[in-house]
Amino acid sequence: MQIFHHVQSIRETLAAERKAGKTIGFVPTMGNLHDAHLELVKIAQQHCDVVAVSIFVNPLQFGLNEDWDKYPRTFDADTQRLRGVNCDYLFYPDETEIYPNGMAEQTRVVVPTMTDVLCGASRPGHFEGVTTVVCKLFNIVQPDVAVFGIKDFQQLAVIRRMVEDLCMPVEIVAGEIYRESDGLAMSSRNGYITPQERPKVSVLNRALNTAREAIIKGEKDFHALEIAAKEAIQAAGFKVDYFSICNSKTLEPAANDDEEITLLGAMFTNAARLIDNVSLHLG
Ligand code: PAJ
Repeated sequence: MQIFHHVQSIRETLAAERKAGKTIGFVPTMGNLHDAHLELVKIAQQHCDVVAVSIFVNPLQFGLNEDWDKYPRTFDADTQRLRGVNCDYLFYPDETEIYPNGMAEQTRVVVPTMTDVLCGASRPGHFEGVTTVVCKLFNIVQPDVAVFGIKDFQQLAVIRRMVEDLCMPVEIVAGEIYRESDGLAMSSRNGYITPQERPKVSVLNRALNTAREAIIKGEKDFHALEIAAKEAIQAAGFKVDYFSICNSKTLEPAANDDEEITLLGAMFTNAARLIDNVSLHLG
């Protein structure tokens, strides 16, 4: 695996691959790679001839009181894991490479409305940071296919929207959610969960599945389902950020006749904010 720190060097190498007729798959990450990230690399390998991964803990998408400084940085373990799945290229830039004019002066990419709800409501500016950096990474790597996890459902929807609205020539492929055996979605932030909290955090996934099953059985009162789910999460000792039953495409509250529905939840442990979602197709 070749590692690049600079925009120009990875561009030159990928330009040569493109010239040789190779298609390029891309998996953007913030590092601290776990099995789910590696599965995304494998998906990219199924779609393309060569695969590039980026590791960049993007300060632009973290709020002032968030965990940018303590976000786990595990470069050596990450490179080993990427070599283990035969990743071809790793882009590992520093902040000045990505933000040469400084973050405050950075041109922004903004997807409106759908970024104001759910995670966007509790993390103002977060999605603007995500779309801005992903747009830049797309311009650097110029992938044919980019793979994102369904675990960050809203992020995936926002990126699809950005690609559609800005006519970006990249196919977005979604990777299913990879979970621990009790249903907890894998996440770099799971390291913040204490041993005391760990047996209880699967309540988020259970609450999502309970509400999903109820809808499949014909329950139409989505509001009541949301309230019951929030109560279950609180009863397990966690603070609810949101629990919402949404239209999968627009992320607006689901209507009773919607066919594609996604249930999304976020809750706080003492030191982590955990998110999860499940989808269903009606009709
Ligand atoms: P990061 O949190 O490192 O996630 C990188 C990719 O891995 C994302 O597409 C995310 O959805 C996916 N992922 C993480 N956990 C997953 C799981 N349990 N199952 C399936 N996919 C999972 O998301 C980001 O980084 C950043 O916002 C980024 C897109 C890199 C922009 O900075």
